[in-house]
Amino acid sequence: EKCGYDHFMLKEIHEQPKSLKDVMSGRLNEFTGDVELKEMTLTRAEIGSLKRVIIIACGTSYHAGMMGKYAIESVTDIPVSVEIGSEFRYSSNRVGPETLIIAISQSGETADTVAAIKDARKKGSNVIAITNVVGSTISREADSTIYMRTGPEIGVAATKTFTGQIAVIYMIALYLGRARGNISPEDARSIISEMKSLSQKSKLVLEKEEYIANIARMFVNAPSFFFVGRNLNFPAALEGALKLKEISYIYSEGFAAGELKHGPLALLTTNIPVVAIATRCPTYDKMVSNIKEIKARDASVIAIASECDNKISQFVDLVIKIPDAGEYASPVLSSIALQLFAYYVARFRGCPIDKPRNLAKSVTVE
Ligand code: M6R
Repeated sequence: EKCGYDHFMLKEIHEQPKSLKDVMSGRLNEFTGDVELKEMTLTRAEIGSLKRVIIIACGTSYHAGMMGKYAIESVTDIPVSVEIGSEFRYSSNRVGPETLIIAISQSGETADTVAAIKDARKKGSNVIAITNVVGSTISREADSTIYMRTGPEIGVAATKTFTGQIAVIYMIALYLGRARGNISPEDARSIISEMKSLSQKSKLVLEKEEYIANIARMFVNAPSFFFVGRNLNFPAALEGALKLKEISYIYSEGFAAGELKHGPLALLTTNIPVVAIATRCPTYDKMVSNIKEIKARDASVIAIASECDNKISQFVDLVIKIPDAGEYASPVLSSIALQLFAYYVARFRGCPIDKPRNLAKSVTVE
């Protein structure tokens, strides 16, 4: 039940301090830098002989997959591609035993993702599934399944399962990196402690609910929205846009910030607000330059920024601060802030938040 919340989505957003703790519990050791994923069936030798990873998913799970690509490529020497389930099947991807497939699906029933992994297994690839639903189709089709332990998600808009998926894919990245000897125990320890701080820091984001709701109220009549970010904040921007369009019906699009000048800037006018994820990270200065390009077109900019950032407010109209965090943890926190933002825009517009029109929680047709 909704436990006093007006919508399942809001309840599920608020469950993230717990779900982020549960997903990592017993799996990460911040003293040794080891990752324990008992569910993994791959041997060390098999991991050592992998030549590539393909992540397959749809919708929000695809965005988690994009974050997985950044993480796996940062902590291992394996190249990664991310494919949309419905596209993978019709591509001429030559997969085989040296390709590891990671399929991400909250429901474990998404027809396109299930079909893609069946094909890949026939060709000899090992398939790891990341899902929330025990006994789901995907868990039966895969060689091994890593559960998100997030608890049931009722709202059609994925929230706590998105952050759970990111945590699992980061753990897989570290697991592969440690098994191949690509990442030192010290470096793994520091990523692990960053990940373990997420539960506590997500509480601090949730404390900003009223502030975020007030900002959302200002934009209920916006005709469309842009979301921009770079690096790990790029999939976070795509996810922010998906969440908003799905439940508020406002046309919204996410872009890699550097791509704006290659086309989308032509659309920008004063009445299209831009959400810019500009947390402290290696691409921060580039993000600030992109924000200046946007401001030059007189669009309103809402920045998602780090708590410690005292300079961003001079370049933007509104700032939502999230706790200071490393580059892996920070997009998770930004995503929680953007979930609240989408929720309140939709709520003030009177939308049926838990059951948006034309959408289903689990998409079992191809
Ligand atoms: O169950 P899955 O993770 O495979 O579902 C994939 C998408 O249908 C899903 O993420 C969808 O995009 C959500 N409604 C987004 O909030």
